[in-house]
Amino acid sequence: MVKRKSKILVGIVIGSKSDLPFMEEAIKLLKSFKIPYGLKVLSAHRNPDETAQYAKKAEKRGIELIIAAAGLSAHLAGALAARTLLPVIGVPVPSEPLKGVESFLSTLQMPSGVPVATMSIGKAGAKNSAILAAEILSLKYPEIKKGLKEYRKK
Ligand code: RP5
Repeated sequence: MVKRKSKILVGIVIGSKSDLPFMEEAIKLLKSFKIPYGLKVLSAHRNPDETAQYAKKAEKRGIELIIAAAGLSAHLAGALAARTLLPVIGVPVPSEPLKGVESFLSTLQMPSGVPVATMSIGKAGAKNSAILAAEILSLKYPEIKKGLKEYRKK
């Protein structure tokens, strides 16, 4: 496990419990890279105040990167990114009836000034979110680089 003061390095936020099956792919990988993570269900429209508080407090809690996964009109990643200077990776979750194209576009098309690093739709995007998180964090934590090298080799 990456050694550091606070418990969580990556904060995973999902818009609903129904998004969890997708993000389990990311969780598996974060575990394999030994990156401590936290998981929270927060919605930009169902509990906007709590979502805002999470983003505002994340950095002070020692979180260094946020992964946000949501479906439908997926404003979660952008709503978090608006309230923190931590990098935010967005994962569009597929849902009926538009198969995730709507969440992809709403996560991707952030106006200038507040970026969200948007992954592909669904499980591939979930996996890539964990890999990208590991790549970013490996700039600071060399032990994560080792896990990444092994993963790439496989
Ligand atoms: C979004 O609405 C969530 O991220 C989820 O993908 C979608 C459906 O949510 P549930 O109705 O299943 O809770 O906010």
